[in-house]
Amino acid sequence: MSAQEPKRKIVGIDLGTTNSVIAHFDEYGKVDVLPNSDNERTTPSVILFEDGEAIVGRIAKNLAASSPEKVVQFVKRRMGEPEWRREIDGHAFSAEVLSAMILKRMVNDAETQLGQPVTDVVITCPAYFNDLERRQTREAGRIAGLNVLGILNESTAAALAYGLNKRDQQVKALVFDLGGGTLDVTVLRIDGNDIRVLASDGERQLGGKDWDDVLVERVAEEFYLEHGVDPREVPESLQDLILRAEEAKKALSQKPTTKVFVQCKGHSLKATIAREEFEKLSAKLLARCARCVERTLRKSGLEWSEVDSLLLVGGSTRMPMIRGMLERMSGKRSDQWINPDECVAIGATYWGAILLLREAQALKERAAADEGASRLADSMEEAVPEDLIVLLGEAEVTNVNSHSLGVLTIGKDGRRSNECMIPEQTPLPHAVEREFVTWKDDQRNVEIRILEGAARDPSACVDIGRCWIEGLPPGRPRGARIAVRYSYGEDGVLEVRARDVETGREVTARFQSAAATLSEEEVALQGRKVAHLLQTDEMGLATDSDEQLLAEFEEGYFAEDG
Ligand SMILES: Nc1ncnc2c1ncn2[C@@H]1O[C@H](COP(=O)(O)OP(=O)(O)OP(=O)(O)O)[C@@H](O)[C@H]1O
Ligand SMILES: [Mg+2]
Repeated sequence: MSAQEPKRKIVGIDLGTTNSVIAHFDEYGKVDVLPNSDNERTTPSVILFEDGEAIVGRIAKNLAASSPEKVVQFVKRRMGEPEWRREIDGHAFSAEVLSAMILKRMVNDAETQLGQPVTDVVITCPAYFNDLERRQTREAGRIAGLNVLGILNESTAAALAYGLNKRDQQVKALVFDLGGGTLDVTVLRIDGNDIRVLASDGERQLGGKDWDDVLVERVAEEFYLEHGVDPREVPESLQDLILRAEEAKKALSQKPTTKVFVQCKGHSLKATIAREEFEKLSAKLLARCARCVERTLRKSGLEWSEVDSLLLVGGSTRMPMIRGMLERMSGKRSDQWINPDECVAIGATYWGAILLLREAQALKERAAADEGASRLADSMEEAVPEDLIVLLGEAEVTNVNSHSLGVLTIGKDGRRSNECMIPEQTPLPHAVEREFVTWKDDQRNVEIRILEGAARDPSACVDIGRCWIEGLPPGRPRGARIAVRYSYGEDGVLEVRARDVETGREVTARFQSAAATLSEEEVALQGRKVAHLLQTDEMGLATDSDEQLLAEFEEGYFAEDG
């Protein structure tokens, strides 16, 4: 490798609701999961705040029962709520800062083990994550100090990991990903290293946690009948019950009955639960899964008879009821090859290599004569195992958007409605151009509201941001035409551009997402705070200009800016 460019290291991170996984290319050029410093291949996405320190992982998860007020879990379910904050000891944390803590712990452990800094990362998210959720995921990566090469759909990542190992075949597959908090269903066509998503859908709030809740309710009710005390009303008992319910759920994936032990206010109970009863109690959840699968298959235009493989991803697919339901519906056996916990992070790592190779290629084409640029391109290629360069360099992955994109319009009668610009399930990248007209004389600016969702009624859609068209030529009568171009990038993130039709000139289109894009300074500041909380900031945290920051540190946590 060249002396000037530092060696780059790509990782793929599956940032999960309950567990996160990080993978890399090992010294043999194979993608492998990197265990954390507790030697676990998956890290619980749980954060404990104690004595001015943030601890991520197993310890935090185990202490969730005894100190629920100090523990943060299921942060991913809060992505897409830019205003959401979790208060701990009077300090407010946003979803992206909390997610950054999880990412940072993963990366730190990886760096310690590799003895090398991690530079480039692909972070995965559910296929149905909208623009806001994707932006927040990207921001979390930036705050964690990472160069985020891209955001990839979890199901596509799983398919990539699968497809690259079945290079010589053409298969149509249904990926069913049921994790801790979310359900994601994707139908795709895999043709060697060409992966095309045909349809993608999911449920934001459906995952293993809901199955845990079924058992919590069941046991709490028995406890109440027996002792007249409801363990759900005592925070410590509830947290303990939640952990035990999850253990019981896992046990029921292995054996026909299990016992759950609960204690509350000096009473105790050992409840016996049979798998059959558990399955009956979760029938509604299972039906939601089935409906989502049918819906996605319909959108893909395929029949079950055309689906070759059933790929089960996510820890919750270990429940026999899930496998049973899918095999009954499809009339097929699920593929046993795939590791439900690891395939997403593995696919993300391949995607990282694909993106870096593309960047290197583009750099070479743009600046063939520039020595610095070609060294940079070389250093990018060196991060990819040699024998994969051709395969990954030729890989094609086409995703679809899982939400319609529209614009708010006002009719002559004053009624507001959502005008669809890009319908859902459109292959990405995709761009659409549409003309707007100014509504008054000498209008210099136009404001456009961007909505996500298929409904005509704007209140049923998600307001993802605004776009200001600025600097239109002066002195024109109303009705001047402006073409606005919305383009969905490959990773499902929106970009907006505008052109004055009369002059053909590009005009400024300032797109402001409802999820804040942080400035470099803010990212750096938040990043240092995260590093400080995780106590990984030995490497020169304090500079003279950081006095205010240090003052905040002395108080333990930090206050959210603004
Ligand atoms: N043997 C098992 N039987 C039943 N459920 C299990 C088993 N093993 C793990 N789970 C459940 O799987 C869930 C975690 O799965 P996973 O790690 O895939 O989720 P995640 O990636 O964090 O979530 P998401 O993909 O929704 O963001 C938890 O709810 C856990 O209880
Ligand atoms: Mg997952």
